[in-house]
Amino acid sequence: MLQDKDRVFLNLYGHQDWSLEGARKRGTWDNTKDLIALGREKLLELIKESELRGRGGAGFPAGMKWSFMPKENDGRPHYLVVNADESEPGSCKDREIMRNDPHMLLEGCVVSGVAMGANTAHIYIRGEYWEPLQRLEAAIAEAREAGLLGKNACGSDWDFDIEVTRGAGAYICGEETALLESLEGKKGQPRLKPPFPAAVGLYGCPSTVNNVETIAVVPTILRRGTEWWTSLGRPKNTGTKIFSISGNVNKPCNVEEELGIPLKELIEKHAGGVTGGWDNLQAVVPGGSSVPCIPKPTCDSVLMDFDSLREAQTGLGTAAVIVMDKSVDIVRAIGRFSHFYMHESCGQCTPCREGTGWMYRVMKRMAKGQATVEEIDSLLDVTYQVEGHTICALGDAAAWPIQGLVRHFRPEIERRINEYAKNSAVAAE
Ligand SMILES: Cc1cc2nc3c(=O)[nH]c(=O)nc-3n(C[C@H](O)[C@H](O)[C@H](O)COP(=O)(O)O)c2cc1C
Ligand code: SF4
Repeated sequence: MLQDKDRVFLNLYGHQDWSLEGARKRGTWDNTKDLIALGREKLLELIKESELRGRGGAGFPAGMKWSFMPKENDGRPHYLVVNADESEPGSCKDREIMRNDPHMLLEGCVVSGVAMGANTAHIYIRGEYWEPLQRLEAAIAEAREAGLLGKNACGSDWDFDIEVTRGAGAYICGEETALLESLEGKKGQPRLKPPFPAAVGLYGCPSTVNNVETIAVVPTILRRGTEWWTSLGRPKNTGTKIFSISGNVNKPCNVEEELGIPLKELIEKHAGGVTGGWDNLQAVVPGGSSVPCIPKPTCDSVLMDFDSLREAQTGLGTAAVIVMDKSVDIVRAIGRFSHFYMHESCGQCTPCREGTGWMYRVMKRMAKGQATVEEIDSLLDVTYQVEGHTICALGDAAAWPIQGLVRHFRPEIERRINEYAKNSAVAAE
């Protein structure tokens, strides 16, 4: 288990003061001027060395992403855009960072901004996150007042400020280019790539979009050293991570742990175990609703990091662990995810717009067994026609949960279909 001395988020549960005074006691804004003085190249080198991977879902290496920003300034401003939309079902970690330790994010913005040549950060926050928004805005005011933001931020030679914008409740606005559109005041629809945001991002300027947690851990990595960070977790899956554990567990919670912790240990030590005990476990969705579920035998030994979960044909995603015990109707549950993706599709691409609705309607019938066994394969076939054939990854996110269900629970789907057919035949007689 992660030792207290290695914890990054010291006020995750809000037991201490969230304001500047409290944050300073926890070490935030400590020697930020020195971190800024490291300069762009050194900061990039250190974040690459730390092997920090993005915490927003895809796990892309942060240092590499930052290095895509133009090295020379061509007159356009550079922007850091913080993705605080957090709409992935099951995910609720960014909310707690902003609510209970907003200064960690603000300091992270300043330091990361230097590494990207950006003087401004835009934080795009989920509209429903009212209290986190209030705290964030109050924290920004405190930081400006204390000279930590603004001209010569933290007494350095770097000017830096932060703007906050509220989203209006669409899941798709969490996709980084839809987010940029929304920030510009347009309808939140993903852009075709290339060009990528580092070349043409917010208002046509070089931009990098990162998740709240990715940015919030940066100052601690730099202060404590990359060796310390890489000593936690596993190679290429370094450091700590906040896991959001929900569903059929005795104590749903957010908890910071080392990447690579066994799933079983995570659930048993931190979430009070599966309701009815470990043997009552049916399946886990380990990374938010977009990733395929894994059945109990896989859960017995799988490790919670990007590469281990990929090997298990699923993903770490946002590390939102949704636990389902044997009381859950898993076909109906995955069908509910399908409804979500149908509802949230922005409608630009035909495979996603038509496919999500088609998949949902079939899933709804399959939950009742009102289908044929052959339809399982045509459903799978449609998921493959959607996956990888759309502008953004919402199409993949709609396809993967169904693929996971069929991969691991095909006998259950077939059982229902056969039972339904038998009952219909009896009723007809
Ligand atoms: C449909 C969809 C919704 C997304 N929602 C979020 C979100 O709410 N928060 C987030 O950080 N990333 C979200 N992402 C991922 C972002 O596009 C982007 O990869 C991420 O913000 C990059 O941050 P990172 O590199 O720090 O992980 C979403 C992606 C898709 C396709
Ligand atoms: S995949 Fe879906 S959500 Fe993404 S751009 Fe296409 S239609 Fe919109």
